[in-house]
Amino acid sequence: MPSDFRLDLVQRPRRLRRTASLRALVEETVLRPADFIAPLFVVEGKAAPDPIASMPGVFRLNVADLVKECRALAKLGVPAVALFPKLDPKLKDDEGTQALNEDTLVLRAVRAVKKAMPELTVITDVALDPYTSHGHDGVLTPARDDVENDRTVRLLEKMAVLQARAGVDLVAPSDMMDGRVGAIRAALDAAGFTGTGILAYSAKFNSAYYGPFRDAVGSAQAAGTRLLSKATYQMNPANRHEAVREALLDDAEGADILMVKPAGAYLDIIREVREATWKPVAAYQVSGEYAQIHAAARLGWLDLARCRHESLLAIKRAGADVILSYFAKEMAALLK
Ligand code: PBG
Repeated sequence: MPSDFRLDLVQRPRRLRRTASLRALVEETVLRPADFIAPLFVVEGKAAPDPIASMPGVFRLNVADLVKECRALAKLGVPAVALFPKLDPKLKDDEGTQALNEDTLVLRAVRAVKKAMPELTVITDVALDPYTSHGHDGVLTPARDDVENDRTVRLLEKMAVLQARAGVDLVAPSDMMDGRVGAIRAALDAAGFTGTGILAYSAKFNSAYYGPFRDAVGSAQAAGTRLLSKATYQMNPANRHEAVREALLDDAEGADILMVKPAGAYLDIIREVREATWKPVAAYQVSGEYAQIHAAARLGWLDLARCRHESLLAIKRAGADVILSYFAKEMAALLK
């Protein structure tokens, strides 16, 4: 029994939190399996799934296992996958030559997945970092002190056309070179791929949260460090106006979906971009965001399931229409 003590209050927001059914009724943000894109790593060979130490529960899969994983994801209602190759280091060189080989690993993987499940949306990165011996996303200047923007863009155009020919639904330029979205759009159209879309990594920050990914694709090993500076092309984490400018440029250049990356530490940027465009906005909960939740859970310091849900809910609440996350499969299984 409550005591007789009463404050004279008209507004009592807690009335709507009193029961589970009232709470459900006024819930504003709901995650669903179709919100997610699952990033998947692919490797050469017959070997069993290859674990990634800094990303518990994430494996590099060979093409056959990748197809199985895609089937499982589709069955859970995940509509899309983003494929990332880990190349044999012997195949890497300064120019990222293998990116333009039409039989390169990721293109064989795309063809296999599309053949098995034509209706699943398949996305590939358009960037050179899995292919370069120095680990940068572009080719280097003669002085080797920076990436060369325009020459890199020429290679990206060709790479995107090869990906479209292999059957991808969306190409995802992820390197932050200037002008690449417009150039890729023109190259796709000229090659007849007017229906192939562009998911642009529009506001991609020079973030320390990519460390585990660089282990996963081997670009860290190639560079000899996980903390290779990409500061001359990826954005300064301090900048908000510049992020909106980048998103509007990609919008004008013909991107179909605009992405912010990372997600959790950039919720304000997701909101800004959401309010600046009429196109769908994506956010990438990156490898380091995944790793930090796992690491704290392992220490017994955070509850994995609740932090996983809360982190993703926050990204959607901030304004993301589409979320790339290494939690995609388990979330879909829970939400189904
Ligand atoms: C590279 C690329 C990166 C990620 C996706 N594409 C990392 C980088 O810029 O080094 C990061 C994804 C993640 O951390 O999960 N073009």
